Amino acid sequence: PAPGPLQGKKVLVSAGPTYEDLDPVRFLGNRSSGKMGFAIAAAAAGMGAEVTLVAGPVHLATPAGVQRVDVRSAAQMHQAVFAALPADIYIGAAAVADYTPRQPAVNKIKKSSESLALDLMRTPDILAEVAAQTQALQLVVGFAAETENVAGYARGKLEAKRLDMIVANRVGIADGGFESDSNAMTAYWKDGERAFASAPKTELARQLMQLIVERLQA
Ligand code: C5P
Repeated sequence: PAPGPLQGKKVLVSAGPTYEDLDPVRFLGNRSSGKMGFAIAAAAAGMGAEVTLVAGPVHLATPAGVQRVDVRSAAQMHQAVFAALPADIYIGAAAVADYTPRQPAVNKIKKSSESLALDLMRTPDILAEVAAQTQALQLVVGFAAETENVAGYARGKLEAKRLDMIVANRVGIADGGFESDSNAMTAYWKDGERAFASAPKTELARQLMQLIVERLQA
């Protein structure tokens, strides 16, 4: 690892979407590109951390000095994250599917009836489970992509999932959010917050990692 403020620290990052298979040719996914999580992994490695990046299906190169584990579904991501623990810092930047087909079809679903209902079940909340670990991490950070009431929902998740920090950004706008190279976001913790002005995700990731280092020392 490079010399830096995170030398000796193990950082675990999740990134990208998950794909939940409906049948051998179809899946439920989302618009996450993985760019923010990959930028965070790169920034953490640049600060001297030992970094493991659990990545959903994305088209991105592995950052230098980062150990990457590729997964597809929420269940696989859950397994890979827990296999990579213990860690000092967990940053859940993945857009994990909230629901998955209860029973993926073995064969391709044929079109027959006029409508089709999917039977979905909740996936495990990886972030909340990591935060609830008995073997406590030093810092657990989540992300919240919201289309409205960004601060309210973000603070709600901070408490509900017992996180140390949550980073919220507005999605569904022209510039920023999923797929975009740049973004604006706000980090919230118990007794503070910090807004990050719109910038390339690589730059935002460096600023966020600096804040994380500050919060570790606080
Ligand atoms: O509740 P919501 O899904 O909006 O929270 C987003 C945060 O929770 C993200 O950090 C995401 O990685 C994490 N999450 C998770 N497992 C899930 C759903 C969300 O780790 N099943």
